[in-house]
Amino acid sequence: MKAIVVYESLWGNTAAIARAIAEGIGPEARALSTAEATAAVTADADLIVAGAPVMAFRLPTDKIRNTLAISNDKKAPTPPNLSHPSMRTWLAGLPRGKGKAAAFETRFKWSPGGAAGSIMRGLKRAGYSKAAKPQKFLVKGTYGPMKDGELERARAWGGELERLVK
Ligand SMILES: Cc1cc2nc3c(=O)[nH]c(=O)nc-3n(C[C@H](O)[C@H](O)[C@H](O)COP(=O)(O)O)c2cc1C
Repeated sequence: MKAIVVYESLWGNTAAIARAIAEGIGPEARALSTAEATAAVTADADLIVAGAPVMAFRLPTDKIRNTLAISNDKKAPTPPNLSHPSMRTWLAGLPRGKGKAAAFETRFKWSPGGAAGSIMRGLKRAGYSKAAKPQKFLVKGTYGPMKDGELERARAWGGELERLVK
């Protein structure tokens, strides 16, 4: 089974969850940024798992990314990593495929809104069918890190996905 876990991640939390999901799926899975998950890579994927952070209650928009690029928040541990395209842009360019798909988001526990629903809709538009219910993984503070136990939960979810799709 060819599986890829694609992420948008400005401060590394979603990337860490993506790596844990890929570990859980098994050695055949790779975690890749939206820049690395090119059309050639996704072409024959049996499973695509895609994830992004919730920002301003939704899947990050270009407007949010542009604001963050210039905001220079002193509380941020690093500047945002904007070197890879947004999940929105990646989904808009995703060529048609016929594998299975699943979506996840990283977020606060209490926040309204979400990102995984929009991601799943984008994957379905490209022809992928839903393998599992979207998942939420929780952070401790505005910029992370993940809450205790979330990486382990992500690894376990990866294992479940592998069993559902193989
Ligand atoms: C500018 C900003 C806005 C955010 N807005 C929300 C939000 O509306 N809802 C939420 O649940 N989390 C929100 N968060 C928390 C992020 O979703 C969380 O830190 C996420 O794990 C960051 O992922 P990343 O490190 O992969 O970029 C926000 C974080 C930042 C920095």
